[in-house]
Amino acid sequence: MSMKIKEVSVQGSAALAPMAGVTDMPYRHLCRAMGAAYTVTEMVSARAMLYNPDKEAELRARSPLEVPAALQIFGDDPEMMAEMAARYGGEYAVIDLNMGCPAPKIVKGNQGSALLRDPALAGRIIRRCADTLKQPVTVKMRLGWDAEHVCAVDFARMAQDCGAAALCVHGRTREQQYAGRADWEEIARVKRAVSIPVWGNGDIAGGAEAVRRMAQSGVDGVMIGRAALGDPWIFRRVESALLGREEHMPDTAEKKRVMRQHCLLQSAFYPPRLAVLRMRKHMAWYLKGFPMAAKLRQQVFALEEMEQILAFIDALTD
Ligand SMILES: Cc1cc2nc3c(=O)[nH]c(=O)nc-3n(C[C@H](O)[C@H](O)[C@H](O)COP(=O)(O)O)c2cc1C
Repeated sequence: MSMKIKEVSVQGSAALAPMAGVTDMPYRHLCRAMGAAYTVTEMVSARAMLYNPDKEAELRARSPLEVPAALQIFGDDPEMMAEMAARYGGEYAVIDLNMGCPAPKIVKGNQGSALLRDPALAGRIIRRCADTLKQPVTVKMRLGWDAEHVCAVDFARMAQDCGAAALCVHGRTREQQYAGRADWEEIARVKRAVSIPVWGNGDIAGGAEAVRRMAQSGVDGVMIGRAALGDPWIFRRVESALLGREEHMPDTAEKKRVMRQHCLLQSAFYPPRLAVLRMRKHMAWYLKGFPMAAKLRQQVFALEEMEQILAFIDALTD
């Protein structure tokens, strides 16, 4: 299956959702190597790009495997966002606008999901970016501010009218943060209301579920966030399930192979100390399902060198 975001063609239906602090360039590279059809960077502040561009450079790094992929930016100033995306987003096929982040410090600045309450400003941001940028502009949104103010259908139509080339809809309100279940009925309503492609997002945990959600809602693809932590194999399982094929779970040897590859990617990208800190976090996710996982996690968090993590992986058994 494939999707067209204007002239950008995405081969496949399962994308890695952006997750700040987690889906860094090494992990996105790994997920692409493991079959993710599309990736989006962690959110990058337009204001930080203007005033402190070197600090944000790491967040903007693109892997050569990320074709096509999106740079996600956030902000509240249409002009600044368009200008920063034009200045720093050239390597990316798509620019994605974050209109879903629920974090208080983001919302306070009238950014992220606060824009769901200010469709006029959101519209100016989308239009300005769509008019200025050479790439297609997409929007990642939630269903609304809270249960009393679900606005997804109107917001999606507005985004389309302002020039958005695709949408990703996370089926929760800002108030829900990450609690409760994603509302795929509302995602389906958005899909029916617009003619641009829609990614559905929220709680997809496996291939069969992705097939069911796509069939029910009619979305063009799914973005997978938390279920991809420690499980970059999920993208292949989704694509297999969509083709009606059996889903293969990785065996221990395969898990160890990918963990090792992940260590090497971290070491190539980060200074040694940071590479270890970040890899320990991912190891905790990879260890899910291993016998004595809690004890193993404790052990891994005591490791200080990447060599030690590699030796730890070699010693893992099922
Ligand atoms: C730790 C974490 C960080 C996230 N950071 C971002 C982000 O930078 N940009 C964004 O659009 N969404 C972000 N999200 C939201 C996810 O992209 C996704 O919409 C949400 O997790 C629901 O999908 P899931 O149920 O598959 O995890 C984040 C989610 C988590 C858990």
